Amino acid sequence: MKVLSVVGARPQFVKLAPIAEAFAATEHTHVIVHTGQHYDAEMSDIFFADLAIPAPDVHLGVGSGSHGVQTGAMLAALDGVLDEHSPDWVLVYGDTNSTLAGAVSAVKMHLPVAHLEAGLRSFNRAMPEEHNRVLTDHAADLALAPTRTAVEHLTREGLADRTVLVGDVMTDVLRRVSAAGTGAPVTGLPGGLDPDAPYLIATLHRAENTDDPARLAAILDALAGLDTPVVLLAHPRLRARAREYDLELARGAIHPTNPLPYPATLAAMTRATGVVTDSGGLQKESFLLGVPTTTVRTETEWPETLEGGWNVLCPEPADLARCLSRPGPTAERAEPYGDGHAAAKVLAALEGAAR
Ligand code: UD1
Repeated sequence: MKVLSVVGARPQFVKLAPIAEAFAATEHTHVIVHTGQHYDAEMSDIFFADLAIPAPDVHLGVGSGSHGVQTGAMLAALDGVLDEHSPDWVLVYGDTNSTLAGAVSAVKMHLPVAHLEAGLRSFNRAMPEEHNRVLTDHAADLALAPTRTAVEHLTREGLADRTVLVGDVMTDVLRRVSAAGTGAPVTGLPGGLDPDAPYLIATLHRAENTDDPARLAAILDALAGLDTPVVLLAHPRLRARAREYDLELARGAIHPTNPLPYPATLAAMTRATGVVTDSGGLQKESFLLGVPTTTVRTETEWPETLEGGWNVLCPEPADLARCLSRPGPTAERAEPYGDGHAAAKVLAALEGAAR
């Protein structure tokens, strides 16, 4: 069996790691195509190095642009690649423009598509990620769902016959990396911060938070006014918009720094007092690590994290201090994200459904 993975953005490299590892233990051929959506070394190369992912076989070098320009450039470039490799499956990951481009390109070329992380829904039609995931699920021949909630969504949309519950591959990689790094010192905190003193980890990159100047200013004001130091791992989109709107990131409690490598992010989160984020991945990772999280959004694709108060939705910047000062959760955490062997189930599903 030949499987061609299309990836392009940071969270997809994390999901690719356990899949590439699982393929390496088989006779199957795994071709990795990097669209180039994320191109800064700290958003891309470092993940391949740290997570021991083989270098991409093909790099499209597409880069940034509006949704249409970025997705269109990927589509144009993928035709020739899919034609040359003619895989048994095109495997796409998550909810990015790279995912949509991989799926559309494959269906147009009559190649079977499998969507990893299928069935997630925010039900927020304004989110580019929601467009990408709904369109990709409905284009896919095989919907690889991470959770029971995702299976329910796919069933309600008439896709039950092509859905398989595999669990979440991010659990696989988190368990592997955190087990290897237990007790590892926290590195990469901005100068002057004591990793043994309380601190919060924050990330912001969703368009709904970064692309509205008044909202971004209100969120930054709220973070700056907190009593606990905030380590803000600044995504390139956040830096670009802050510059554009003339907003200073480094002020009050905020200590901005560049995105950290994956193992360092997990280590920094493990020791943090809490996490403030709009990232899907971080909400789940902090849940798995047992760190209370406050999500600056009106909804989440990972509602399981809300159980027992481990994660709280706090869309209003003015409420952030109150959300963060809530009592620490004490409820036992269930295991809604699988047993850490999702990648093996993905391979089994692909083998079982291969035509
Ligand atoms: C993308 C995904 C999102 C995912 C996120 C993870 C889409 C629509 N969104 O959002 O689902 O959660 O990745 O990070 O696909 N930039 C750089 N260097 C880089 C990458 C980006 O400077 O290496 C800058 C560019 O100015 C670019 C902006 O960041 O315009 C946004 O990048 P883009 O790929 O459009 O989307 P993300 O916000 O990263």
